[in-house]
Order: sequence, then structure tokens, then C-alpha cells
Amino acid sequence: MHILITGVAGFIGSNLAKFLLKKGCKVTGCDNLKNGNLDRLSNILDDSDFRFFETDVCQFSDMESLTKNVDWICHLAGEVGVSHTSNRPASSFKVNIRATEVILEIDKKTGAKVLLGSTSEVYGNPVNTSEALVETQAITLPPPVHPRWAYAASKAAAEYLASSYHHEFGVHTVICRFFNVTGAGQLPESGMVLPIFVSKAQKNKPLIIYGDGSQTRCFTYVEDAVEAIFRVMVHPENNGQIINIGSTKEISILKLAGEVIRQLNSSSEIMYKEPKWQMNSGTKDIKRRIPNIEKLHKMTGFKPATDLHTIIDSIAKFHNSTHKVGL
Ligand SMILES: NC(=O)c1ccc[n+]([C@@H]2O[C@H](COP(=O)([O-])OP(=O)(O)OC[C@H]3O[C@@H](n4cnc5c(N)ncnc54)[C@H](O)[C@@H]3O)[C@@H](O)[C@H]2O)c1
Repeated sequence: MHILITGVAGFIGSNLAKFLLKKGCKVTGCDNLKNGNLDRLSNILDDSDFRFFETDVCQFSDMESLTKNVDWICHLAGEVGVSHTSNRPASSFKVNIRATEVILEIDKKTGAKVLLGSTSEVYGNPVNTSEALVETQAITLPPPVHPRWAYAASKAAAEYLASSYHHEFGVHTVICRFFNVTGAGQLPESGMVLPIFVSKAQKNKPLIIYGDGSQTRCFTYVEDAVEAIFRVMVHPENNGQIINIGSTKEISILKLAGEVIRQLNSSSEIMYKEPKWQMNSGTKDIKRRIPNIEKLHKMTGFKPATDLHTIIDSIAKFHNSTHKVGL
């Protein structure tokens, strides 16, 4: 199987490339290196089954030539995360939509299958948070008065675009909604909470909690996420499906901070702040976000289950082994 990964120098893309090579696949990867890093690919750049191209997914002609003889496109490139995209909502929005459109147009011509990397953010701010989030439920995005929701809206729009190409042009599509994928290689600069907490705790600096810390999240180890992606890709009935990929082990952000401090034997304090993007946004942070992964489990027999201790340990070891970690 020959797979093109867009955003291959990113956190999930680089881990997926390594996993697929181990499974005997041929992998072509592209990235504009805006937020990606070639260091992540250093141990596969010489692999004869891997080739890398520095290009922007929005460059149609480049992408057209890269996708020749490709069976699958795993489209992971994009402007990622609420904290990043809130700073430049219009450009992030446009890139996420345009890049997806280019991929789908190419799939329409070549017949390659596409796996679209989406996010739990598309569930928006549901009224009822007592239940785990299931793929069939409505998307409840607040009105577009604040850039906080631009990332979620861009990813939801990309999903609708993929679904439209599936229905109108018969493009083979699978949408994977990731829930807080983390692990070694994810930098604090990504804005993701766990590498930030680990980095601060290692330096005995305060861990900042936005809100009161009672909001809960589930953290998915990146190696579990890429295994789930692979299992979904090889499933014979994946066409047109939307699938949650995430751990169901829930923890409050306050407990998470305490856990990181305890595990790393740190003297960091916990401080509380109001998040920038929450001010004037008319919405509070999402209280609870837990995936329902019955569909993933029924289809693939797989459940992401790596425990938090292992995840924290992997991030801490990665930070110790690199001088590039900021904050
Ligand atoms: N990590 C998570 O927790 C998480 C959660 C939900 C969804 N996702 C989704 O998974 C995908 C991968 O996320 P990630 O965590 O690896 O992010 P990442 O930022 O590490 O990787 C994205 C990569 O895409 C590249 N890129 C951005 N725009 C590009 C363009 N126009 N052309 C070419 N390359 C471009 C960046 O340089 C970067 O290397 C994204 O689509 C993201 O929305 C990630």
C-alpha cells in the first residue's frame, strides 16, 4: 500500500509515517514546514520506502504530481489547535478549507482514498455533557462572533466538504476525529496542555490552569492514535464513515496538573487564569469532553488504552533528550 501523508513533519504525521513503514507500506510525505520539523523524520529520511517533499498542500500542481500511484491520502496538514488559530483565524480557516479542497479534487480524479484528520473540537459546546460524544450527534457550534470557534468551524467545514465529495463524486472518504493526541515529540509550542505542563514542571515553573480546572479531558497516546488510524484504513467498510479516535480515560485539568507535578517530583505551583480566547467569546470552556469509541472498537477491535503515567513519562524523556523545548 502506498500512502501520502500531508503534514508528515507534524506530530501525528511523523508518527504515522514511521508506523506505516514498519507495516511494510510505501510512504510519501509532504509538509510546508511552517509548524513541522524535519528532525521528526530524521530516522526515516534515508528509508528507500519513504520520500519527503517540502511543499504546501494548497499548491495544486505539486500535489497532483505527488499523488500519482498513491492508494491513500492521509490528510493531516493544517493549522492546528484553538490557541494557535485564534491568533490568525481568517488565514487558518482558509488554509484548512483550501488544503482539504485540493486533496478532494485530486481524489476525484485519481480515485485515491482519503482519510481526513479531524478533531473533537467539531463537537463544539454541547448542552448535554453527561454522555460521551458520539459520531451521530449534532454539531453545536456557538455563533461566529469570536475566533475561539474558527478552528472547530474550519474542521467541521472540511468534514462537510469531504462528505459532499463522497456523495456527489463518489470519493472514498473516512473522517477520523482525534481527541487530545499527545506523547513524545509534541512540543509545548503546539499549545497542547500536556507538553506545556511537563515542560513547566521540569523547570519547577508554575503550571497555569485556565478556568477552575474542573473541566475534564481524555489524553490519547500518539502510538495508539496511529495504530487506530491504520486499523481504520485497512477496514473493508470504512468508506463514508466518521470515527472517533481517543482514549476514554477522563481526568480533570487540575488533577492532570497534580499528576504531572507528582510524577516528575517537581516543586511547581498551580496558578489559575482566564483564557484569552474565552474573554468576550460568550462561551465557557467545554466542561467535559470524552469520546464514545464503540464504533472504532466494533470496526477494528482496538481501544486506545495507554495510561497517563506512560504518556507523561514519554514526554518528559523526550524533553530531557532535546534542547529544542522552549517555554
Ligand atoms: N494533536 C492533536 O491532539 C489533534 C487533535 C485533534 C485533531 N488533530 C488534527 O490532526 C492533524 C495533525 O495534527 P498534529 O497534532 O500533528 O499537528 P501539527 O501542527 O504537529 O502538524 C500539522 C503539520 O501540517 C503542516 N502544514 C500546515 N499547513 C500546511 C500546508 N498548507 N501545506 C503543507 N503542510 C502544512 C505543518 O507544518 C505541520 O507539520 C491536524 O489536521 C489536526 O487538526 C490533532
